[in-house]
Amino acid sequence: MSQKHQRCFGLVGLLLCFCAPFATAQLSTEDHLAEPGFWPTQAHASRDGFVGSQACAPCHAAKLATQRETPMARTAMPVAVAEILRSHPALSFSINKFRYQIDTHATRSLYTVSDENRKLSYPLTWAFGTGRVAQSYLFKKEDGNFYESRASYFTRLANLDFTPARALLSPSSIEDAMYRPVPSAEIQRCFACHSTASNIGGRFDEQHLTPGVTCEACHGPGANHAKAMDESVPTKSGSAKAAIFNSAHLAPADAVDFCGACHGSWWDVKLAGVKGVSTTRSAPYRLVTSKCWGAKGDPRLTCTACHDPHKQLQTEASAYDSKCLSCHITSSETKLSASHPGAACPKAIKNCTTCHMSKVNVPEMHADFTDHRIRIARPGEAFPE
Ligand code: HEC
Ligand code: HEC
Ligand code: HEC
Ligand code: HEC
Ligand code: HEC
Ligand code: HEC
Ligand code: HEC
Repeated sequence: MSQKHQRCFGLVGLLLCFCAPFATAQLSTEDHLAEPGFWPTQAHASRDGFVGSQACAPCHAAKLATQRETPMARTAMPVAVAEILRSHPALSFSINKFRYQIDTHATRSLYTVSDENRKLSYPLTWAFGTGRVAQSYLFKKEDGNFYESRASYFTRLANLDFTPARALLSPSSIEDAMYRPVPSAEIQRCFACHSTASNIGGRFDEQHLTPGVTCEACHGPGANHAKAMDESVPTKSGSAKAAIFNSAHLAPADAVDFCGACHGSWWDVKLAGVKGVSTTRSAPYRLVTSKCWGAKGDPRLTCTACHDPHKQLQTEASAYDSKCLSCHITSSETKLSASHPGAACPKAIKNCTTCHMSKVNVPEMHADFTDHRIRIARPGEAFPE
């Protein structure tokens, strides 16, 4: 069972410069992070450059209003405000001889594992995930270190089950059955992808981080920009240097890797050795293997061609048709051209994604993911790696 979380383990210590004959134009996140300039999940020398999303409100009110409601913006939270736990105050599941429980009273959630002889309890501290698919929990023990609960909440089950990739069929002890110690380097990575400004000077700054993927997680520290713009607004907007990162200026391969800093780039997934249907959790990995993507990619097929990261995900298939039809012709009578290099579909002229971007069940997530490898999916075919 390969997972996002394992993927991150897998990246550590791997030499990044080996080349496969089928290497694409993509890079691994470690390679991008080694380059100068801003890249999501990077460490920052100090907190001084960060101002918080609220500081963007005077000038980008509409973006803030929608972005802060997205799952990305809300993807981590102190357990005290985890709505899922408050609306499910007594969660439990049993496997083999162990019973797992999360009991919530007001703002406190107690995680308990018991067998016929023993019972262990700890209060949870952090909840990860909006519950779009799942929510996982971290807590600290007396030693001050982080532990990941082996039970997570799954929306499709409306209950607990094993945390993906953490199932233990014969734990050696109740401790082992209950949690996994999370090394501090891994904790930094969890928060780098699920929060903003958590890594200052190479240290995990739990006190000051902003939970969730907020403006500065994708645009970098915004203090200079906000100040420069503020000063220039009364005269002429745009006269001062923007001084903020905008991935719209990247080449297509880099733009896809940009989202891949958290969603897993092609190389991240390769290096981590993730295989099979679990790879559909990484849209960047699957997308660049589509025939549509070509050798170097195309701005009409980057993540932001189909998704506005400041808004909720579009769930109506028809909303994506215009994206496909920016390259595909609709009738075989039309000729292919440089601007429209994609053939016409012999079967349909709308709702393209329903047939060509199928939903794939990922068993350990108890959920379906959208396969971003755009293709003709034949019934009964094996999952194409
Ligand atoms: C006082 C007004 C003001 C504030 C505050 C402000 N911005 Fe801007 N921002 C602007 C203006 C005006 C532009 C257009 C600048 C241009 O075209 O050169 C802009 C452009 C941008 C761009 C595009 C830059 C590019 O090169 O394409 C991004 C990204 C951005 N802002 C993000 C933010 C974020 C994030 C914050 C909060 C941390 C923020 N802004 C705060 C006024 C502001
Ligand atoms: C700093 C890390 C980070 C970056 C960078 C990032 N994402 Fe995400 N994204 C996440 C996390 C974490 C989730 C899971 C949110 C949840 O459901 O709890 C997510 C979820 C999503 C979702 C599904 C949730 C929804 O319904 O909106 C979409 C779509 C998405 N991201 C698109 C993008 C795109 C497009 C980019 C690049 C422009 C991007 N992301 C960059 C961390 C990131
Ligand atoms: C490399 C970046 C990265 C790291 C490291 C990472 N995550 Fe995630 N996580 C994501 C992204 C992107 C998603 C959304 C796509 C998906 O579901 O796989 C996600 C999804 C999730 C979800 C499901 C969210 C939902 O709303 O359904 C949970 C729960 C979660 N992560 C917990 C964790 C925990 C706990 C850790 C650390 C032990 C961790 N993640 C480490 C990027 C990361
Ligand atoms: C998940 C990553 C992500 C987050 C979070 C995010 N942005 Fe962006 N933003 C992008 C990307 C990617 C683009 C370029 C879109 C494109 O390719 O056209 C962009 C473009 C912009 C632009 C310039 C283009 C335009 O549409 O005017 C502004 C301004 C901006 N973002 C402001 C914000 C503000 C303010 C926030 C917080 C409320 C925010 N962004 C949060 C990824 C993000
Ligand atoms: C050609 C259009 C297209 C492109 C390009 C695209 N997506 Fe998607 N994406 C979709 C569709 C369609 C869905 C499913 C929406 C639905 O029905 O819920 C989706 C869903 C998602 C989800 C939600 C989880 C899931 O698997 O259903 C995430 C996360 C996501 N996309 C991330 C990305 C990222 C990151 C990129 C860039 C590598 C990207 N997408 C590029 C069309 C696209
Ligand atoms: C950047 C332009 C571009 C975009 C956007 C694009 N395609 Fe394509 N697509 C192509 C090209 C070019 C080919 C032909 C590649 C080849 O067969 O050599 C192709 C091939 C295909 C194929 C045949 C694949 C196979 O396995 O033979 C399908 C199906 C397809 N596209 C569907 C879609 C759908 C559905 C969308 C929107 C979700 C889409 N495309 C978006 C350019 C694009
Ligand atoms: C009802 C399902 C369905 C929908 C909706 C659909 N397609 Fe298809 N498409 C197919 C099937 C099935 C094939 C394979 C036909 C065959 O090979 O006999 C196909 C083939 C294709 C091909 C390959 C054509 C070739 O000559 O190689 C392309 C490109 C394509 N579709 C694009 C699209 C686009 C773009 C849309 C939306 C405008 C779309 N499809 C909507 C089912 C669908």
